[in-house]
Amino acid sequence: MARASTTMDHRHDRTSSGGAGSRRRRPSLRKLASRADYIWKQGNRLALYTLHSEAMRRMNARLQKELPETPKPVPDGPVPSQRRILADITALFADDLNSVEDGLYPAPRDGRMSLRELIATSRAFFKDVPEVARRRATGAHQEVFEDKDRYGDTLPRYYRQNFHFQSDGWLSEESARLYDFQVDVLFSGATAAMRRRALVPFAEILKRKDQRKIAYADLACGTGGLLAPALSAFPRLKGVGVDLSEPYLSVARETIDTGRASFVNTMAECLPFADNSLDVLSCVFLFHELPPKVRRMVIAEAARVLKPGGSFLFVDSLQTGDIPGYDGLLSLFPQLFHEPYYTSYLDEDLDGLFAAAGMTRSFFRPAFVSRVAEYRKP
Ligand SMILES: C[S@@+](CC[C@H](N)C(=O)[O-])C[C@H]1O[C@@H](n2cnc3c(N)ncnc32)[C@H](O)[C@@H]1O
Repeated sequence: MARASTTMDHRHDRTSSGGAGSRRRRPSLRKLASRADYIWKQGNRLALYTLHSEAMRRMNARLQKELPETPKPVPDGPVPSQRRILADITALFADDLNSVEDGLYPAPRDGRMSLRELIATSRAFFKDVPEVARRRATGAHQEVFEDKDRYGDTLPRYYRQNFHFQSDGWLSEESARLYDFQVDVLFSGATAAMRRRALVPFAEILKRKDQRKIAYADLACGTGGLLAPALSAFPRLKGVGVDLSEPYLSVARETIDTGRASFVNTMAECLPFADNSLDVLSCVFLFHELPPKVRRMVIAEAARVLKPGGSFLFVDSLQTGDIPGYDGLLSLFPQLFHEPYYTSYLDEDLDGLFAAAGMTRSFFRPAFVSRVAEYRKP
Protein backbone atom coordinates (compact mmCIF):
# COMPACT_ATOMS: atom_id res chain seq x y z
CA MET A 1 0.00 0.00 0.00
CA ALA A 2 1.46 3.39 -0.98
CA ARG A 3 1.52 5.33 2.28
CA ALA A 4 2.15 9.03 2.68
CA SER A 5 4.47 8.47 5.61
CA THR A 6 7.19 6.98 3.45
CA THR A 7 7.86 10.25 1.68
CA MET A 8 7.35 13.12 4.05
CA ASP A 9 7.59 16.58 2.61
CA HIS A 10 8.84 18.90 5.36
CA ARG A 11 8.96 22.08 3.32
CA HIS A 12 8.44 25.33 5.25
CA ASP A 13 9.32 23.67 8.48
CA ARG A 14 12.41 25.08 10.13
CA THR A 15 12.24 22.79 13.15
CA SER A 16 12.37 19.74 10.92
CA SER A 17 14.68 20.91 8.17
CA GLY A 18 17.38 21.88 10.71
CA GLY A 19 20.21 24.30 10.32
CA ALA A 20 18.40 27.40 9.06
CA GLY A 21 17.34 28.46 12.57
CA SER A 22 20.90 28.39 13.86
CA ARG A 23 22.04 30.88 11.19
CA ARG A 24 19.45 33.46 12.27
CA ARG A 25 20.34 36.69 14.03
CA ARG A 26 19.49 37.12 17.69
CA PRO A 27 15.74 37.82 18.02
CA SER A 28 14.61 41.39 18.65
CA LEU A 29 12.89 42.35 21.92
CA ARG A 30 9.62 42.56 20.03
CA LYS A 31 10.01 39.04 18.75
CA LEU A 32 10.91 37.79 22.21
CA ALA A 33 7.80 39.51 23.61
CA SER A 34 5.49 37.91 21.04
CA ARG A 35 7.19 34.55 21.60
CA ALA A 36 6.59 34.90 25.35
CA ASP A 37 2.97 35.85 24.65
CA TYR A 38 2.53 32.75 22.45
CA ILE A 39 4.10 30.46 25.07
CA TRP A 40 2.02 31.99 27.87
CA LYS A 41 -1.27 31.61 25.98
CA GLN A 42 -0.68 28.11 24.62
CA GLY A 43 0.77 27.01 27.96
CA ASN A 44 -2.41 28.22 29.67
CA ARG A 45 -4.52 26.30 27.19
CA LEU A 46 -2.48 23.16 27.73
CA ALA A 47 -2.91 23.50 31.50
CA LEU A 48 -6.62 24.34 31.32
CA TYR A 49 -7.58 21.40 29.10
CA THR A 50 -5.23 18.94 30.81
CA LEU A 51 -6.86 19.82 34.14
CA HIS A 52 -10.30 19.27 32.61
CA SER A 53 -9.14 15.95 31.20
CA GLU A 54 -7.85 14.81 34.60
CA ALA A 55 -11.04 15.96 36.36
CA MET A 56 -13.10 14.11 33.74
CA ARG A 57 -11.03 10.95 34.23
CA ARG A 58 -11.70 11.02 37.99
CA MET A 59 -15.38 11.74 37.45
CA ASN A 60 -15.63 8.82 35.03
CA ALA A 61 -13.90 6.52 37.52
CA ARG A 62 -16.57 7.42 40.11
CA LEU A 63 -19.43 7.11 37.60
CA GLN A 64 -18.25 3.71 36.38
CA LYS A 65 -18.93 2.18 39.78
CA GLU A 66 -22.66 2.69 39.18
CA LEU A 67 -22.74 1.85 35.47
CA PRO A 68 -22.66 -1.51 33.67
CA GLU A 69 -19.12 -2.81 33.32
CA THR A 70 -17.58 -2.49 29.84
CA PRO A 71 -14.62 -4.41 28.39
CA LYS A 72 -11.28 -2.82 29.19
CA PRO A 73 -9.86 -1.16 26.04
CA VAL A 74 -6.88 -3.09 24.68
CA PRO A 75 -4.32 -1.25 22.52
CA ASP A 76 -3.26 -2.94 19.31
CA GLY A 77 0.34 -1.68 19.28
CA PRO A 78 2.53 0.74 21.21
CA VAL A 79 1.01 3.64 23.17
CA PRO A 80 3.08 6.79 23.70
CA SER A 81 3.94 7.79 27.28
CA GLN A 82 2.57 11.03 28.77
CA ARG A 83 6.07 12.44 28.45
CA ARG A 84 6.23 11.62 24.72
CA ILE A 85 2.76 13.14 24.20
CA LEU A 86 3.82 16.33 25.93
CA ALA A 87 7.00 16.47 23.84
CA ASP A 88 4.96 16.02 20.64
CA ILE A 89 2.50 18.76 21.63
CA THR A 90 5.45 21.03 22.38
CA ALA A 91 6.93 20.22 18.94
CA LEU A 92 3.58 21.11 17.34
CA PHE A 93 3.51 24.45 19.17
CA ALA A 94 7.12 25.09 18.11
CA ASP A 95 6.18 24.45 14.45
CA ASP A 96 3.16 26.73 14.85
CA LEU A 97 5.26 29.51 16.37
CA ASN A 98 7.88 29.15 13.63
CA SER A 99 5.16 29.60 11.00
CA VAL A 100 3.98 32.76 12.77
CA GLU A 101 7.54 34.09 12.95
CA ASP A 102 8.06 33.22 9.28
CA GLY A 103 5.05 35.42 8.49
CA LEU A 104 2.95 32.58 7.08
CA TYR A 105 0.04 33.50 9.33
CA PRO A 106 -0.56 35.86 12.28
CA ALA A 107 -0.28 34.92 15.96
CA PRO A 108 -3.27 32.72 16.83
CA ARG A 109 -6.36 34.10 18.52
CA ASP A 110 -7.23 30.83 20.29
CA GLY A 111 -8.93 30.96 23.62
CA ARG A 112 -10.49 34.41 23.32
CA MET A 113 -13.35 33.22 25.53
CA SER A 114 -14.28 35.62 28.30
CA LEU A 115 -13.99 34.28 31.84
CA ARG A 116 -17.76 34.15 32.05
CA GLU A 117 -18.00 32.10 28.82
CA LEU A 118 -15.20 29.84 29.98
CA ILE A 119 -16.91 29.10 33.28
CA ALA A 120 -20.25 28.50 31.56
CA THR A 121 -18.69 26.16 28.97
CA SER A 122 -16.70 24.30 31.62
CA ARG A 123 -19.90 23.78 33.65
CA ALA A 124 -21.78 22.56 30.57
CA PHE A 125 -18.88 20.22 29.81
CA PHE A 126 -18.95 18.59 33.26
CA LYS A 127 -22.74 18.44 33.23
CA ASP A 128 -22.51 16.39 30.04
CA VAL A 129 -19.81 13.97 31.28
CA PRO A 130 -22.31 11.59 33.00
CA GLU A 131 -24.42 11.51 29.84
CA VAL A 132 -21.44 10.50 27.73
CA ALA A 133 -20.40 7.93 30.37
CA ARG A 134 -23.92 6.45 30.38
CA ARG A 135 -23.91 6.10 26.58
CA ARG A 136 -20.46 4.53 26.62
CA ALA A 137 -21.45 2.04 29.34
CA THR A 138 -24.75 1.07 27.74
CA GLY A 139 -23.62 1.27 24.09
CA ALA A 140 -26.27 3.95 23.43
CA HIS A 141 -25.05 5.61 20.25
CA GLN A 142 -28.21 5.66 18.19
CA GLU A 143 -30.29 8.22 20.11
CA VAL A 144 -30.26 10.71 17.24
CA PHE A 145 -31.34 7.95 14.84
CA GLU A 146 -34.10 6.63 17.08
CA ASP A 147 -35.66 9.95 18.13
CA LYS A 148 -36.99 10.99 14.75
CA ASP A 149 -39.44 13.50 16.23
CA ARG A 150 -36.60 15.45 17.75
CA TYR A 151 -33.83 15.04 15.18
CA GLY A 152 -35.75 14.40 11.98
CA ASP A 153 -35.10 11.57 9.54
CA THR A 154 -33.99 13.29 6.37
CA LEU A 155 -30.24 13.28 6.92
CA PRO A 156 -28.15 10.27 5.79
CA ARG A 157 -28.28 7.20 8.05
CA TYR A 158 -24.51 7.11 8.60
CA TYR A 159 -24.66 10.69 9.88
CA ARG A 160 -27.50 10.23 12.38
CA GLN A 161 -25.49 8.70 15.22
CA ASN A 162 -24.10 9.93 18.52
CA PHE A 163 -20.51 10.18 17.26
CA HIS A 164 -18.09 10.11 20.23
CA PHE A 165 -21.20 9.30 22.36
CA GLN A 166 -21.84 13.03 22.29
CA SER A 167 -25.23 14.40 23.33
CA ASP A 168 -27.43 15.12 20.28
CA GLY A 169 -24.70 13.92 17.86
CA TRP A 170 -24.16 16.80 15.42
CA LEU A 171 -27.73 17.88 15.72
CA SER A 172 -28.21 20.56 18.36
CA GLU A 173 -26.89 23.97 19.24
CA GLU A 174 -25.83 22.67 22.69
CA SER A 175 -23.67 20.05 20.96
CA ALA A 176 -22.20 22.72 18.66
CA ARG A 177 -21.37 25.00 21.59
CA LEU A 178 -19.62 22.20 23.51
CA TYR A 179 -17.84 20.56 20.59
CA ASP A 180 -14.66 22.67 20.44
CA PHE A 181 -14.20 22.48 24.20
CA GLN A 182 -14.66 18.69 24.22
CA VAL A 183 -12.18 18.23 21.39
CA ASP A 184 -9.67 20.43 23.16
CA VAL A 185 -10.02 18.38 26.35
CA LEU A 186 -9.28 15.31 24.22
CA PHE A 187 -6.23 16.93 22.56
CA SER A 188 -4.96 18.95 25.54
CA GLY A 189 -5.67 22.30 23.90
CA ALA A 190 -3.64 21.46 20.76
CA THR A 191 -6.57 21.17 18.30
CA ALA A 192 -6.37 24.66 16.84
CA ALA A 193 -2.60 24.33 16.33
CA MET A 194 -3.14 21.04 14.44
CA ARG A 195 -5.72 22.67 12.16
CA ARG A 196 -3.41 25.62 11.53
CA ARG A 197 -0.83 23.33 9.95
CA ALA A 198 -3.11 23.40 6.89
CA LEU A 199 -2.37 27.13 6.63
CA VAL A 200 1.26 26.29 5.77
CA PRO A 201 0.51 24.86 2.28
CA PHE A 202 -2.36 27.39 2.02
CA ALA A 203 0.04 30.31 2.54
CA GLU A 204 2.32 28.82 -0.13
CA ILE A 205 -0.57 28.66 -2.61
CA LEU A 206 -1.50 32.27 -1.90
CA LYS A 207 2.07 33.46 -2.52
CA ARG A 208 1.46 32.64 -6.17
CA LYS A 209 -2.07 34.07 -6.38
CA ASP A 210 -4.23 37.10 -5.63
CA GLN A 211 -6.27 36.26 -2.49
CA ARG A 212 -9.24 38.23 -3.79
CA LYS A 213 -9.49 35.95 -6.80
CA ILE A 214 -9.33 32.68 -4.91
CA ALA A 215 -12.50 30.59 -4.78
CA TYR A 216 -12.25 28.69 -1.48
CA ALA A 217 -14.51 26.39 0.53
CA ASP A 218 -14.02 24.49 3.79
CA LEU A 219 -15.83 21.13 3.79
CA ALA A 220 -17.42 19.98 7.06
CA CYS A 221 -16.48 23.36 8.51
CA GLY A 222 -18.26 22.63 11.80
CA THR A 223 -18.21 25.71 14.00
CA GLY A 224 -15.51 27.27 11.80
CA GLY A 225 -12.39 25.64 13.27
CA LEU A 226 -10.32 26.20 10.12
CA LEU A 227 -12.40 28.72 8.21
CA ALA A 228 -12.06 31.33 10.98
CA PRO A 229 -8.24 31.22 11.24
CA ALA A 230 -7.90 30.98 7.43
CA LEU A 231 -9.91 34.17 6.94
CA SER A 232 -8.01 35.93 9.69
CA ALA A 233 -4.66 34.76 8.27
CA PHE A 234 -5.47 35.86 4.74
CA PRO A 235 -7.39 39.14 5.06
CA ARG A 236 -8.61 39.40 1.47
CA LEU A 237 -9.71 35.81 1.16
CA LYS A 238 -13.39 34.88 1.05
CA GLY A 239 -14.63 31.42 1.91
CA VAL A 240 -17.66 29.18 1.91
CA GLY A 241 -18.26 26.89 4.89
CA VAL A 242 -20.06 23.66 4.00
CA ASP A 243 -21.55 21.42 6.67
CA LEU A 244 -24.43 19.03 7.10
CA SER A 245 -25.29 20.34 10.57
CA GLU A 246 -27.39 23.48 10.63
CA PRO A 247 -26.75 24.02 14.38
CA TYR A 248 -22.97 23.84 13.84
CA LEU A 249 -23.26 26.27 10.94
CA SER A 250 -25.26 28.70 13.03
CA VAL A 251 -22.47 28.79 15.64
CA ALA A 252 -19.95 29.26 12.80
CA ARG A 253 -22.00 32.20 11.47
CA GLU A 254 -21.81 33.84 14.91
CA THR A 255 -18.07 33.33 15.31
CA ILE A 256 -17.02 34.27 11.77
CA ASP A 257 -18.44 37.72 11.44
CA THR A 258 -16.10 39.03 8.79
CA GLY A 259 -18.55 39.53 5.96
CA ARG A 260 -16.16 37.36 3.95
CA ALA A 261 -17.75 34.01 4.79
CA SER A 262 -20.90 32.38 3.52
CA PHE A 263 -22.35 29.04 4.53
CA VAL A 264 -24.09 26.15 2.83
CA ASN A 265 -25.94 23.43 4.70
CA THR A 266 -25.27 20.41 2.52
CA MET A 267 -23.35 17.16 2.11
CA ALA A 268 -19.66 17.13 1.25
CA GLU A 269 -20.41 14.26 -1.16
CA CYS A 270 -22.82 16.40 -3.18
CA LEU A 271 -21.34 19.86 -3.48
CA PRO A 272 -23.25 22.83 -4.86
CA PHE A 273 -20.27 24.08 -6.90
CA ALA A 274 -19.78 23.95 -10.66
CA ASP A 275 -17.14 21.72 -12.26
CA ASN A 276 -13.64 23.28 -12.21
CA SER A 277 -14.76 26.25 -10.15
CA LEU A 278 -12.72 26.26 -6.91
CA ASP A 279 -9.04 27.00 -6.31
CA VAL A 280 -8.80 25.60 -2.79
CA LEU A 281 -10.83 23.16 -0.72
CA SER A 282 -9.97 22.34 2.86
CA CYS A 283 -11.36 19.60 5.06
CA VAL A 284 -10.55 19.01 8.72
CA PHE A 285 -11.49 15.94 10.79
CA LEU A 286 -14.16 14.70 8.39
CA PHE A 287 -12.74 11.61 6.69
CA HIS A 288 -12.55 9.48 9.83
CA GLU A 289 -16.28 10.15 10.38
CA LEU A 290 -17.31 8.85 6.95
CA PRO A 291 -18.09 5.34 5.72
CA PRO A 292 -15.48 4.21 3.15
CA LYS A 293 -17.96 4.59 0.28
CA VAL A 294 -18.74 8.20 1.21
CA ARG A 295 -15.02 9.03 1.55
CA ARG A 296 -14.64 8.06 -2.09
CA MET A 297 -17.63 10.18 -3.07
CA VAL A 298 -16.22 13.24 -1.28
CA ILE A 299 -12.88 12.83 -3.05
CA ALA A 300 -14.63 12.47 -6.42
CA GLU A 301 -16.61 15.65 -5.70
CA ALA A 302 -13.43 17.49 -4.72
CA ALA A 303 -11.78 16.40 -7.97
CA ARG A 304 -14.85 17.57 -9.91
CA VAL A 305 -15.19 21.04 -8.37
CA LEU A 306 -11.50 21.96 -8.14
CA LYS A 307 -9.99 23.86 -11.05
CA PRO A 308 -6.97 22.31 -12.77
CA GLY A 309 -4.07 23.30 -10.49
CA GLY A 310 -6.45 23.51 -7.51
CA SER A 311 -5.58 22.12 -4.07
CA PHE A 312 -7.31 19.98 -1.48
CA LEU A 313 -5.95 20.69 2.01
CA PHE A 314 -6.51 17.69 4.23
CA VAL A 315 -6.26 17.46 8.03
CA ASP A 316 -7.40 14.38 9.88
CA SER A 317 -6.28 11.79 12.40
CA LEU A 318 -2.94 10.03 11.99
CA GLN A 319 -3.23 6.64 10.32
CA THR A 320 -1.65 3.33 11.28
CA GLY A 321 2.10 3.51 10.74
CA ASP A 322 2.27 7.28 10.25
CA ILE A 323 4.59 7.80 13.19
CA PRO A 324 6.35 5.26 15.39
CA GLY A 325 4.86 4.63 18.81
CA TYR A 326 1.30 5.85 18.19
CA ASP A 327 -0.52 2.91 16.59
CA GLY A 328 -1.78 1.54 19.92
CA LEU A 329 -3.21 4.93 20.92
CA LEU A 330 -5.02 5.20 17.57
CA SER A 331 -6.50 1.73 18.05
CA LEU A 332 -7.87 2.77 21.48
CA PHE A 333 -9.85 5.68 20.10
CA PRO A 334 -12.76 3.67 18.59
CA GLN A 335 -12.86 1.49 21.71
CA LEU A 336 -13.37 4.55 23.93
CA PHE A 337 -15.63 6.63 21.68
CA HIS A 338 -18.39 5.82 19.24
CA GLU A 339 -16.39 6.11 16.03
CA PRO A 340 -18.00 3.60 13.66
CA TYR A 341 -15.78 4.36 10.64
CA TYR A 342 -12.48 5.18 12.35
CA THR A 343 -10.98 1.69 12.15
CA SER A 344 -11.53 1.57 8.38
CA TYR A 345 -10.02 5.07 8.15
CA LEU A 346 -6.85 3.97 9.95
CA ASP A 347 -5.83 1.72 7.06
CA GLU A 348 -7.38 3.66 4.21
CA ASP A 349 -4.96 4.28 1.34
CA LEU A 350 -5.68 8.00 1.04
CA ASP A 351 -2.96 8.67 -1.54
CA GLY A 352 -4.42 5.84 -3.61
CA LEU A 353 -7.96 7.22 -3.35
CA PHE A 354 -6.90 10.71 -4.40
CA ALA A 355 -4.77 9.22 -7.18
CA ALA A 356 -7.80 7.28 -8.45
CA ALA A 357 -9.58 10.66 -8.70
CA GLY A 358 -6.59 12.07 -10.62
CA MET A 359 -5.01 14.00 -7.74
CA THR A 360 -1.48 13.76 -6.35
CA ARG A 361 -0.06 14.53 -2.96
CA SER A 362 2.31 17.51 -2.87
CA PHE A 363 2.70 17.99 0.89
CA PHE A 364 2.60 15.78 3.94
CA ARG A 365 3.38 16.42 7.57
CA PRO A 366 2.25 14.74 10.78
CA ALA A 367 1.15 17.24 13.46
CA PHE A 368 0.82 15.59 16.90
CA VAL A 369 -2.13 13.18 16.36
CA SER A 370 -3.06 14.63 12.94
CA ARG A 371 -1.80 14.23 9.42
CA VAL A 372 -1.76 17.27 7.17
CA ALA A 373 -1.59 16.85 3.42
CA GLU A 374 -2.13 18.76 0.21
CA TYR A 375 -3.49 16.99 -2.89
CA ARG A 376 -3.34 18.78 -6.23
CA LYS A 377 -5.47 18.40 -9.30
CA PRO A 378 -3.15 18.57 -12.30
C1 LIG B 1 -15.31 16.21 13.71
S1 LIG B 1 -16.28 17.53 13.13
C2 LIG B 1 -15.08 18.56 12.33
C3 LIG B 1 -15.52 19.99 12.24
C4 LIG B 1 -14.46 21.00 11.82
N1 LIG B 1 -13.94 20.74 10.51
C5 LIG B 1 -13.33 21.07 12.83
O1 LIG B 1 -12.21 21.19 12.43
O2 LIG B 1 -13.60 21.04 14.02
C6 LIG B 1 -17.10 16.78 11.78
C7 LIG B 1 -18.03 17.74 11.07
O3 LIG B 1 -18.35 17.11 9.85
C8 LIG B 1 -19.70 17.36 9.57
N2 LIG B 1 -20.09 16.31 8.61
C9 LIG B 1 -20.12 14.97 8.81
N3 LIG B 1 -20.47 14.32 7.69
C10 LIG B 1 -20.67 15.29 6.75
C11 LIG B 1 -21.02 15.26 5.38
N4 LIG B 1 -21.24 14.12 4.75
N5 LIG B 1 -21.11 16.43 4.71
C12 LIG B 1 -20.88 17.60 5.35
N6 LIG B 1 -20.55 17.70 6.64
C13 LIG B 1 -20.44 16.56 7.34
C14 LIG B 1 -20.40 17.33 10.90
O4 LIG B 1 -21.65 17.97 10.86
C15 LIG B 1 -19.36 18.04 11.77
O5 LIG B 1 -19.56 19.42 11.78
